[in-house]
Amino acid sequence: MLRNTLFRLSSSVQTHDNKRRLVTIVCQQSWYSTKNSGVEFKASGVQVNDKLYDRDDWTNVTPSVLAKLDRKLHLQERNPIGIIRQLIEGHFNDFRTFNDLSPVVTTRQNFDDLLIPKDHPSRTKSDNYYFNKDTVLRAHTSAHQLEGLASGANKFLISGDVYRRDEIDSSHYPVFHQIEGLAYFDGQSKGEADVVAAIQADLEKAKPIPSNIEIVDDTIIHPGNPLQGRHSEAVVTPLVAHLKHSINSMICHLFADEPNLKVRWIEAYFPFTSPSYEVEIYYQGEWLEVLGCGVVQQALLDKGDRHHAVGWAFGMGLERLAMVLFGIPDIRLFWSQDSRFIDQFTPGQIKKFQAFSKYPPCIKDISFWLPPTEWHDNNFCETVRGVAGDLVENVKLIDDFTHSKTNKRSLCYRITYRSMDRNVTNDEINEIQEKVRSTVEQDFGVELREKK
Ligand code: PHE
Repeated sequence: MLRNTLFRLSSSVQTHDNKRRLVTIVCQQSWYSTKNSGVEFKASGVQVNDKLYDRDDWTNVTPSVLAKLDRKLHLQERNPIGIIRQLIEGHFNDFRTFNDLSPVVTTRQNFDDLLIPKDHPSRTKSDNYYFNKDTVLRAHTSAHQLEGLASGANKFLISGDVYRRDEIDSSHYPVFHQIEGLAYFDGQSKGEADVVAAIQADLEKAKPIPSNIEIVDDTIIHPGNPLQGRHSEAVVTPLVAHLKHSINSMICHLFADEPNLKVRWIEAYFPFTSPSYEVEIYYQGEWLEVLGCGVVQQALLDKGDRHHAVGWAFGMGLERLAMVLFGIPDIRLFWSQDSRFIDQFTPGQIKKFQAFSKYPPCIKDISFWLPPTEWHDNNFCETVRGVAGDLVENVKLIDDFTHSKTNKRSLCYRITYRSMDRNVTNDEINEIQEKVRSTVEQDFGVELREKK
């Protein structure tokens, strides 16, 4: 399962894994300079651009993960990750956006500011990429919540690449992308009734939830997922309604073309929110976890100098959503530099991905004089497919001319052969092409123009 959220783990849960620790040891010994980037591994430390991070026993960043730092898929307009980021920003159009904050953060930003206890399992070396004991690649965009608050914006979104040690397969990758949202209502010099009125006024302006979505939500505020000490139910009830409406309508906006969307709210735990929730989407017979959210802990708002504000926050992984919305079968494809991947997408649009083969094509032309009978491209293509099966990727007419004296018409087709799962050899394709030639000659009575 792709991990969208990690910080929900309460500190009693252990997540150690010996296999992962081995990777760490190997990488600490390497001296390495990654190509085309400002990253250099030195005996004394790891240099990123002008900054040298001293080594200590926490150092476990690897060259391959640091090579991802300058990719910023969320900023690429044609990458599904960038497309989803922009659609979400378009939905929350009165939120200030932060999209280019450095993923190299302090452990204070990544953990302490978010009230994550010192012994919390999400801090372990086996789950994170540390430069040293004080510096880490951010494991979630929540690491920037305080920077967002410091900007003065009362509603903001933060998107970026986040890093967690993980296995690599079709749904796991050590780098993925998140978008964080935070909104607060200020109660400075106002009474509770004014804050409630402000939340309600904002809710009334919001668009209603369309009917294509079924929302399953039986969450209630109770001691297991409690109100914070400084909060009253009178404020938190509308605030949670505002949070739920904001999230549900964002999901509807993204899944606008989905006729039967099911969304489920469940209780969760995060050190930096209470009450806390997770949201899941029903897709192909499974509930997929897509985001974590909740009412921002007052101690965090205090750190951000918003003592009289109440707010909510969410953090959502973009890869899983993009895999569902674009029908992308493998998380590694987002990193593909192959134009056959990236050229399929248009900024601002959700479109189903057309799978392509990773193996090189073999291209052959066939030309012939037509018989006097009627000619149909489709029949020709069917015949080629009948002979070559799935090895045919494309058949295209590239030349069509009529001889001025004989009045005979000549066609030339270009056939692209390609296997989805292996390299094809020229010899095997020549053999198939010979068969195509003789079948076309026989079936349609054409006169082949050249022998090879
Ligand atoms: N940062 C959390 C994670 O990645 C998600 C989250 C964000 C939860 C904001 C609540 C509020 O696990």
